[in-house]
This record gives sequence, structure tokens and C-alpha cells, in this order.
Amino acid sequence: MELRIDRQALVPVVQQVVDSLVRWLRCGNVAPGTRLPPVRQIARINLLSQACVVEACERLVVKGLLVARRGTAFFVASPQANQLEDFSWDEGAEGKQLGQRDPWGLGCGGLPESWRETDDLAFAIRQVSRTDMASLFNYSTPLGLPALRQQIIKRLIRLEIQAQEHEVMTTSGASQALDLIVRTLFMPGDSVVVESPGYCVLFDLLRLHRITMIEIPRNPNGPDIAALEAVLLKQRPRALFINSFHQNPTGSSLGRLVAKRLFQLANAYGVLVIEDDVYADLHTGPGVRLAALDAKRNVVYVGSYSKTLSSSLRVGFVVAPAEVISRLVSVKMISSKGASPFAESVLACLLASGAYGKLVQRQRQRLNGARRLVLQMLDDADWEVFGKPSGGLFVWARSRKQDRAQIRAHAQRCGIQLSSSTAFSPSDETTDWLRINVAYACDQQARRFFQATSPDRPQAF
Ligand SMILES: Cc1ncc(COP(=O)(O)O)c(C=O)c1O
Repeated sequence: MELRIDRQALVPVVQQVVDSLVRWLRCGNVAPGTRLPPVRQIARINLLSQACVVEACERLVVKGLLVARRGTAFFVASPQANQLEDFSWDEGAEGKQLGQRDPWGLGCGGLPESWRETDDLAFAIRQVSRTDMASLFNYSTPLGLPALRQQIIKRLIRLEIQAQEHEVMTTSGASQALDLIVRTLFMPGDSVVVESPGYCVLFDLLRLHRITMIEIPRNPNGPDIAALEAVLLKQRPRALFINSFHQNPTGSSLGRLVAKRLFQLANAYGVLVIEDDVYADLHTGPGVRLAALDAKRNVVYVGSYSKTLSSSLRVGFVVAPAEVISRLVSVKMISSKGASPFAESVLACLLASGAYGKLVQRQRQRLNGARRLVLQMLDDADWEVFGKPSGGLFVWARSRKQDRAQIRAHAQRCGIQLSSSTAFSPSDETTDWLRINVAYACDQQARRFFQATSPDRPQAF
């Protein structure tokens, strides 16, 4: 049994063994009662110590996925279905087909667990649980933990965004921020402008609230300004949603000139701008946020720590004029009684100590290296790339040689999960373009897939 162990990863090896075994169990054709290969053999094949394999198996016994007999003989527990059917949900990635092995998430939207860092986070969690009893047990204040909001303001200053403490509200991820904005500031039947391709969960949210979407094309340097101007003139939408930097799914970022022109247009037509900047910390180059240009305070700015620190902590925030924040806060308290003070306290601790800043610096470096390799690989395999992103998680690309059906067949053979071919279009149009997550694309499995898509270029890779 070959496990997927990355020795450069910051995730402890035991945890990686646990994750690999769970993947193996999820493949669907492992019958309850099946005996795992002997611990000695798993350890030898994967260059691990036996103690490490035993510890991983014992953790799975605790989870009810394995049973131990006669010391170190491990068997698949039954029934498995209840424990395994709640697969992780990934926006914008294709659904798994019945019986398919747990595929490699080339098209998924977040960092792999092996890229996440645990030490600083574990330290902050211990620190908060020892020293901050209130955050362990109490509800949060409506705007969110003051210490965290102060840290967020410091971060905003680096992006040249001016905000007072009462103009910042924490949320449970950017998802809650978008949800509160949509249901508080808009009514069913309102029209808003969205980018195409764009963030698929936003489209679902707008559909849920019966808000009409008017789509404009996303170019490599931001929304298509001519299309925007035509829409503003003719259809008089109430707002524009934009994912400014390292956009999901294209990886592209807002150019300075486009930002200025867009901002002028929004002001001229009285359109509210919702700027979603969840990939901000993965960006270092030049660029201006719409919220930084906002003298009249006509921009609602959304951020998150899901993409860098942890998607599980669920910490995001909104920056907006005080009167907008006060409306959002009321709905936040009615619908959720506030965000998690514990998660906010852990994050505030990491921001204050500087550990978060160093973590994102390491992530950016690692992503930059991976992106260079991926762009080379795509070039070798004769894929077209949208705007060659300089940062962030995504590259948007399509094969010049093979059609959608051929690409999907290769993906299935190589055990690769691709992004959806319709989800990033507000009107569900099918596309050949794929969202490629660079953190997944350097793996052997992904290389094999790209290689298979360029059969006439054997020199590649
Ligand atoms: C553009 C965009 N906005 C918002 C979100 C939601 O982020 P969070 O996990 O903070 O809710 C995502 C997550 O993929 C995203 O890509």
C-alpha cells in the first residue's frame, strides 16, 4: 500500500498517514472486515517507522473507521457508510462519480492540508484556551472582538484603506459577509452586475435571494470597462460585485487604470461596489483596492483568513460606512448571535505576534515556486493560459489540442478532479477553461494528467 507522504509538508507525517488511509477507505470498494496490509509492510514500503503507522491506525480506530485485533492487526470497520458519506464540499469542483476513488483536487478552491501550517496555530489555540476564558464560553460582541478589529485596521492601512473601528465588523468567513450584504442591502428583483467567469457561490447566493445578475466579461486586468459602462447606462443596476485580486477562478488581478475608471463609473451612476478581496494576503505586487479609492464611502470591502490560515476557524470581515455596518450587524446578531470569539481571539493572537505575517510570506513564496512550474508545464502541454497570474492560488487555462470530453476522460483515468465546466458562469454556460489550483498541480498525479493531454509532445515534463 503506497501512501502519499510529502516530507517537505508542515503537516505531521502521522497526520498524512491518517489522511492517506482515509482516502484509501473512501475509494468505495474496501469491504468491511478487510484486513489492512501488515504494519511492518506499510512502514517498509513508505519509508516510515512502524510506530508512526501504528499511531495513525490507532487514530482511525478512535474515529471508528478501523478495528484493531491481536495487537497490530487492523481491519476495516463496519458499517463505513455513516462515517464516510459526508464528503468535503468544494465549491466549483466537479462532483465525484459514484464509485470513483477520492480524486486529486486539481480544480478545487483551497490549499491542500499538507500546505497548511499547524505549529503557530496550535500555539495560539493553547495560549487562548489558557488565558482567555471569556472567549471559550461567551457570545461575541456584535461588531466582533475589538483586539481583532484593531489588527484588521492595521492590515487595511497597508492596503491604503482607511477605516475606523466602528466601520469594521467580523463575520464567520467571507461567506457570511456576502450573505449578510445580499440579504440586508438588496431586495428580490434588484439587479446587480457580476463578473463572468466569477465566484460560483456568489452566483448561487444571488439566485437564492432572487437577485437578477447582469454579467460582464472578466478580462486579465479586471472587469471589461466598456461592457460595464453599457450595462450601467442601459440597465441601471444597484450594485457591482467584484473579486479584485487573484480572482476566483481566473487568478487575474485588477489593474490600476481599470480600478480608477471602474470607480469613476460606479460613482457617476451611483452604484454600490462590493469588493471581495479574500485572496489579498496572497498578493504582494502593485495594485490598488477600490476601497482605497473610496472617498464617498461607496465601497463595501470583504476579507477573510480562510485561504491562508484556516478555512475551519471561519473568520472574515466587512468594512463599510457606519450606517451600512449597523444594518449588517443587526442581521448578523439575529441570524447567528455573532461570530466565534474563540476563533477571533486565536487569530488576533497570531496577528499581534507577527506569526501570521510570516506564515503568509512563506505561503506566497511556495505558491510562487509552484506557479512557475505549473505555467511551464501548461506551456509544454500546449495549454492556453488566461493572463498569467503573478500570485494567488489559481491559473485559468484550456488545452489547445484536446476538447472537453478528451480532457475529462484523461482526468478520470489519472484520478484527477477538475473544476466544473459551468459553475463559474452566471448563466451556466459551458466552458473549456479550467480552474487549476497551483498548490495541487505539481503533484505526480497532476503531471501525469497534463502529460496525457499532450500525447504528441513526449519531450514535455
Ligand atoms: C472569491 C471568494 N469569496 C468568498 C469566499 C468564501 O470565503 P470564506 O471561506 O472566508 O467564507 C471564497 C472561497 O472560496 C472565494 O473564493
